[in-house]
Amino acid sequence: MKSLQKITALLVLSTLIIASCTKEGPQGPAGINGTNGTNGTNGTVDCIKCHDNSQNIFEKSNQWAASGHAVNGNYARNAVDCAPCHTSQGFLEVLKTGAEVCASVISNPNPQNCYTCHKIHTTYTQDDWALTATTPVVFKVNGITSDQGKANLCINCHQIRKPDPMWDLSQGSATITITSFRYGTHHGPQGNLFNGTGGYELGTGYINSSHTTMVSNSCVQCHMAKAYGNQAGGHQLGMRYGTSGTVNTAGCTSCHADATSLKNKIIATQATTQNLLDSLKTILVTKGYMTASGNVVTGTYTNDNAGIIYNYQFVMEDKSKGVHNFNYAKKLLENSIAAAKK
Ligand code: HEC
Ligand code: HEC
Ligand code: HEC
Ligand code: HEC
Ligand code: HEC
Ligand code: HEC
Repeated sequence: MKSLQKITALLVLSTLIIASCTKEGPQGPAGINGTNGTNGTNGTVDCIKCHDNSQNIFEKSNQWAASGHAVNGNYARNAVDCAPCHTSQGFLEVLKTGAEVCASVISNPNPQNCYTCHKIHTTYTQDDWALTATTPVVFKVNGITSDQGKANLCINCHQIRKPDPMWDLSQGSATITITSFRYGTHHGPQGNLFNGTGGYELGTGYINSSHTTMVSNSCVQCHMAKAYGNQAGGHQLGMRYGTSGTVNTAGCTSCHADATSLKNKIIATQATTQNLLDSLKTILVTKGYMTASGNVVTGTYTNDNAGIIYNYQFVMEDKSKGVHNFNYAKKLLENSIAAAKK
């Protein structure tokens, strides 16, 4: 009954809103109440397709409530340049305006939620499950367009933020001045790494893993595969569940049929990537470019050296330790190590 009361309340509310928005002179006398509609033949039919007893919304809500989007807490980052990715309202605002930043600070910021990703309550029909952002994304860092199917939604936010100052690969030995200890890709560069673009590509040999071309819905295929409770997959979006951190392979098995072989592949890929990251970091710390805690040492650098620092941040912040696009991550690190050793 509660939800029916809510629905009735909302219908009354929307009628009031519609009434208050029209500017057509004074209101006439109130008419008599209409007769109640019958389910299936009146205007609430589409409401009921979503607000029914299938538990569909609760199931997704329950998973979402345990997701990093809901619980990690950084939606308090509501400044004009952070809000487009960190707040729901800011994201929907820049989708509409096409601007790089929000017009003003977002008050009462919300985290990414149903309304951020779906067109909830736009037409009040099933069409409202449509995703809010579907077009291929032009990466902020280099203007390259990437089409990752349903995951275009995700990569609007999960992409590199332009480093300041921006490096220039063609001017390798010219210098730039780094003024922030946070120099690099910033958090969440997964969209670029999966696509194999946006690195400071020293040397040669860059190729992508099969994932780039074969996993057509990118993030959605692996992270939103069949859920394991509210610990991984579905709208929880995580890849591991349980106390021992088992990988949720529901989105992998269509290609990786053998579970043991997949497990070993993940272990080998992540170990190789972590070793390369560790080696590069040791060099960066020894050279005085980075502190042991990972802060960039501010100062004047050649583009090449700034690029090497940036490449380290790129693969590290991607957090998959090579799973997203092993070939690209590996080559970026190997070539950075070779150049840094010179
Ligand atoms: C496409 C599916 C869909 C349709 C159609 C739909 N809703 Fe919703 N509605 C949702 C979702 C999803 C939420 C958010 C659920 C949540 O936050 O728990 C929601 C939330 C609500 C809420 C709670 C509002 C709030 O902000 O807390 C009300 C009331 C509501 N809907 C009424 C309606 C009415 C009335 C209609 C028809 C005129 C309707 N809905 C049509 C999916 C739908
Ligand atoms: C509006 C921007 C935005 C969109 C769209 C978005 N994300 Fe996120 N995502 C974020 C932000 C910001 C965080 C960090 C949240 C925090 O720290 O509070 C995050 C966190 C995550 C995390 C959790 C990371 C962790 O370490 O806990 C995963 C996984 C994730 N997103 C996957 C996705 C996937 C998959 C999609 C698409 C279906 C998606 N995101 C869409 C902005 C977004
Ligand atoms: C282009 C989108 C985007 C913008 C703009 C953005 N962020 Fe983020 N941020 C993300 C994503 C995506 C994540 C989640 C990354 C992940 O979990 O791998 C994140 C994560 C974070 C985190 C959590 C890091 C962690 O490891 O727990 C902090 C803190 C943060 N951002 C601060 C900021 C601040 C401050 C600003 C504004 C100056 C900002 N972000 C602007 C996309 C963005
Ligand atoms: C970060 C973005 C994101 C958020 C937040 C999100 N969704 Fe989704 N949702 C998706 C994507 C992407 C799909 C498509 C998944 C697929 O095709 O495998 C989807 C699919 C769905 C579907 C199946 C749609 C259909 O066409 O049948 C439902 C139902 C749904 N979401 C409900 C919700 C509800 C309820 C909430 C809020 C609790 C929510 N979603 C929050 C991204 C999101
Ligand atoms: C081929 C499957 C696959 C694809 C495609 C994929 N991921 Fe991942 N992702 C993983 C795996 C596996 C991990 C590593 C989990 C671990 O080791 O804990 C991971 C790790 C992450 C992490 C670190 C936090 C976490 O949840 O473990 C984030 C954030 C993330 N991915 C976001 C994304 C985004 C955004 C996309 C789309 C651009 C994407 N992923 C595409 C499989 C995938
Ligand atoms: C659409 C097909 C497809 C899906 C889905 C897929 N993979 Fe792959 N993956 C491949 C192919 C093809 C290769 C390269 C050949 C090989 O090593 O098996 C590969 C390679 C890998 C590698 C080795 C490193 C590399 O990139 O060469 C790892 C690790 C991996 N996949 C993990 C995963 C995980 C974990 C998932 C699910 C979360 C997943 N893959 C989903 C097709 C897929």
